[in-house]
Amino acid sequence: MVKAGIIGGSGYTGGELIRILLHHSEVEIDFVFSTTRAGKAVSSAHPDLLGSTDLYFTGTVDSSTDVVFLCLGHGNSTKFLNENEFSEHTKIIDLSNDFRLLADATLKGREFIYGLPELYKSKIQKAQHIANPGCFATAIQLGLLPLAKAGILDKDVHVNAVTGSTGAGVSPSGTTHFSWRNNNASWYKPFTHQHLGEINESLKSLQENIGELFFLPNRGNFTRGILATAYTRFEGDETDALQLYKDFYAEAVFTQIAEEPIHLKQVVNTNQCHIHLHKHKDTLLITSAIDNLLKGASGQAVQNMNLIFRFEESTGLNLKAGVF
Ligand SMILES: NC(=O)c1ccc[n+]([C@@H]2O[C@H](COP(=O)([O-])OP(=O)(O)OC[C@H]3O[C@@H](n4cnc5c(N)ncnc54)[C@H](OP(=O)(O)O)[C@@H]3O)[C@@H](O)[C@H]2O)c1
Repeated sequence: MVKAGIIGGSGYTGGELIRILLHHSEVEIDFVFSTTRAGKAVSSAHPDLLGSTDLYFTGTVDSSTDVVFLCLGHGNSTKFLNENEFSEHTKIIDLSNDFRLLADATLKGREFIYGLPELYKSKIQKAQHIANPGCFATAIQLGLLPLAKAGILDKDVHVNAVTGSTGAGVSPSGTTHFSWRNNNASWYKPFTHQHLGEINESLKSLQENIGELFFLPNRGNFTRGILATAYTRFEGDETDALQLYKDFYAEAVFTQIAEEPIHLKQVVNTNQCHIHLHKHKDTLLITSAIDNLLKGASGQAVQNMNLIFRFEESTGLNLKAGVF
């Protein structure tokens, strides 16, 4: 069995990793490190795990463990790795944005590979360290990669995406407070969201001259999931677009092309990304949907781990959507 350590275990992505790894046939959880809850039961932070695990949070790490997941806020992964050593053979999968851009991808001689399996599967299989993509970044890239691969993403792209409140982490804030968020809607960081950097880097790795990406993120009054709509000029008809996407994702385990319009709940609680295409006059509308904590974070992190250790890519990730 592969031994796994989780850092930042009391947060949302840490909790999701524990839930997935408890049921992973090839992995055992070695330790769950927490700065705030060392010595307390894991179920004290994640009460749904009462009866599923007797694990306790630790304040120390096993430096020779096989794989470590860093579930820390931006900047804290770098700080943690500067303060803690791991053995040469330990794989590190970081969920923050510390190492996602090529310019930031190396720390203390460790090189981080961008962990989007639909784009970099063979690189991931050989990687020692992974920079797991952002949640919005995953939904938007999966919606646009086939167009960039075909070299036809040269016109401006407009993206509107709505996320659930868990996207903002476990600590309550003004915009995740129930009284504010419930029955409400709002946008934030118009055209400047931090995920634009990684999205543009991936798309440009396939097509150098892409159009400008105008991205408007929205806060939804639900807890999980991202529904992203992108539209741009496309010269072919809907059948051409469908074929392009089906060909690009022919080998993808977790990205599906839906012929019917999609909605968010068909992917919530799963590691799936569902994509739908609709043509109107000269414009192609691409809708993509993911669970921000699974395909957008911890599920994709486990998918990357599966690829590195050459397990079946879907091991531990055959999850059931909530649907109703
Ligand atoms: N939420 C999402 O949908 C999502 C999606 C993709 C990527 N991400 C990224 O994944 C990372 C973790 O996200 P998350 O949603 O799990 O965040 P979170 O719920 O806020 O959890 C982060 C955890 O980090 C630990 N921590 C250690 N040092 C800390 C410090 N100085 N200040 C605050 N917390 C500290 C805390 O756990 P302990 O007290 O147990 O140490 C905290 O619970 C972030 O970089 C985030 O951007 C999140």
